[in-house]
Amino acid sequence: MKSIVVLRLGQRYVRDDRTLTHLCLVSRALGAEAIYLEDAEKDVTETLDQVNRTWGGDFRVILGEPWRGVIRAAKKEGRSVVHLTMYGMPIQDVAPQLRGLDKMLLVVGGPKVPGRVYHEADFNVAVTSQPHSEVAALAIALHEIQNGEELKRTFQKSKLRILPSPRGKRVVED
Ligand SMILES: C[S@@+](CC[C@H](N)C(=O)[O-])C[C@H]1O[C@@H](n2cnc3c(N)ncnc32)[C@H](O)[C@@H]1O
Repeated sequence: MKSIVVLRLGQRYVRDDRTLTHLCLVSRALGAEAIYLEDAEKDVTETLDQVNRTWGGDFRVILGEPWRGVIRAAKKEGRSVVHLTMYGMPIQDVAPQLRGLDKMLLVVGGPKVPGRVYHEADFNVAVTSQPHSEVAALAIALHEIQNGEELKRTFQKSKLRILPSPRGKRVVED
């Protein structure tokens, strides 16, 4: 299984903990093991702790580490740095290469991305060459990079588990 860690760049202008929470939830559900958020409130971590307790797994949210240090440490431990940007190379062209990587740091931007990030990255990757959202870009990139394997993942030590159902809601206690 791949080891994928996510970094969300950016200091906030306005409070956007909802977007940050969505980035965390998408990262967790789609196979990443941790996310670094440069700037977020503690309640984002608390929400994810609660999600882990209920639905399982040990996804980690790490707050307040400056991006340069996160990228430096990732490279030191052999992670490739994959930066999602609409200016990068089309994901459908680079996916075969990305699928061959065992360890990576997947970087998404916020309101403003420092120019340096484009040079620090091993890959600058576009999910279409149109502007949209870091949440959407992250979800599609995680899916493409793992070739759909992330959809089959199970989460250990959950309190609740969904029994997939064509109609209604079926949930069992573990
Ligand atoms: C709302 S956008 C703002 C981008 C910002 N204008 C910049 O300096 O690039 C926030 C983030 O979403 C991601 N994103 C948005 N559109 C994308 C696309 N087409 N391909 C890949 N990533 C994208 C990128 O990570 C980007 O930094």
